[in-house]
Amino acid sequence: MRDITTGNIIADWKPEYAGMFGKETLKLKHTLHQSEWFSDERLANLIEKAERSHYHVNTRSSGPDGKKRRREGEFGGLSGMEVLQAVRKGDIWINLRAPQLADPAYGDMLHDMYAEFETRVPGLETFKHKTTILISSPNVYVPFHSDVPGQMLWQVRGTKRVWLYPAEEPFVTRNAIEKLILGELHETDMPYDETLDEKAFVTDLQPGDMLHWPLNWPHRVENHDCLNVSVTTEHFTREIRTSYAVNYANGLLRKAGIANPRKQTGGLAATAKTALAGAVKFSGLRRQAHKPYTIDFVVDPSGKAGIRDIDPYELRL
Ligand SMILES: [Fe+2]
Repeated sequence: MRDITTGNIIADWKPEYAGMFGKETLKLKHTLHQSEWFSDERLANLIEKAERSHYHVNTRSSGPDGKKRRREGEFGGLSGMEVLQAVRKGDIWINLRAPQLADPAYGDMLHDMYAEFETRVPGLETFKHKTTILISSPNVYVPFHSDVPGQMLWQVRGTKRVWLYPAEEPFVTRNAIEKLILGELHETDMPYDETLDEKAFVTDLQPGDMLHWPLNWPHRVENHDCLNVSVTTEHFTREIRTSYAVNYANGLLRKAGIANPRKQTGGLAATAKTALAGAVKFSGLRRQAHKPYTIDFVVDPSGKAGIRDIDPYELRL
C-alpha cells in the first residue's frame, strides 16, 4: 500500500507550494512516468476495455472553407497495440475518460493524487474528482480554451508545450467565462491571436512534470514531434463551486439584460446567486439536448494520418 502522507506521486514538494495551490501556476515533479500504469501493455488493455461511451478519438481535417474541422471516430475492431501504432505515426488523439471503470488501479491513483495534495495544503478539500488519460500523436495541438473545474495536467510520456494566460481581459472576458459555465460558449467568444502570447506563461512539460493553474485560466497546448501520454485531473472545491454558481447566475442576469453583474466571491449576494443558479440548474428549465456525435472515421494504422474514412453515423453518448 502506498503511503500518502509522505507521498509517492508528488516527488518534489516544497512548503511554499501550499500557498500557491489554485492561486498561481504551480509546476512540480511527479512519479507517474515511472509507473507500470502507463506502459504500452496497460494502455492497450485500457483501449480494448474502454466502453464506447467512455472514449473519444479525434482527428482534424480541412473542410471546404479551408478551416480545420475536428472529427470524431471509433477504434473499430483493432487491438489496443494497433491503435497505439496508429497514434504513434498518425494525427489523432484519444481521450480515455473514465479509466478507473476499466481498471480500478486508476481510481486508486486519482484518489491518492488528491489525498497527497490535501495532506500538504492546509484547508484544501476537493471533490468531484475526474481523470482522463490522453494519448496523442506527434505535433497534435489543443486550441485556446478555458475549462470549468480545477485542472491539473500530468505529463507521462513525450513532451508538450503549454501556454497559460490569466483569466482576465484581454485574454478572456467575464461574459465568455459565464457562457462557458452555462454551456453556451462559441469559438468566437474566446478569440485568440498571437499577441496574447507576449504575456503568457509558457513551459515545456517533460515526463514527470505536473502543471496546475488558477481556475478558468485560458490555455493552449502543442505536442512536440513525439507520441504524448498525459493525464488530466479535475476537481472542485467550495471556492470553485461558489465561483461556478456566481458565474452561472451572472450569465443568466446578463442574458436578462443586466449589463455587468458583479462577481462576488462570498457573502450574502454569492449565497443568493448560488441559490438562483441551483434553482434554475436543477429545475431543468435550461436542460439542453445533447447533440449526437457524427462518427466518420475508424482508426487505421495503415491509413494516412492513422485513420480511414467510413460512412458517417450518429452516436448519442
Ligand atoms: Fe483544458
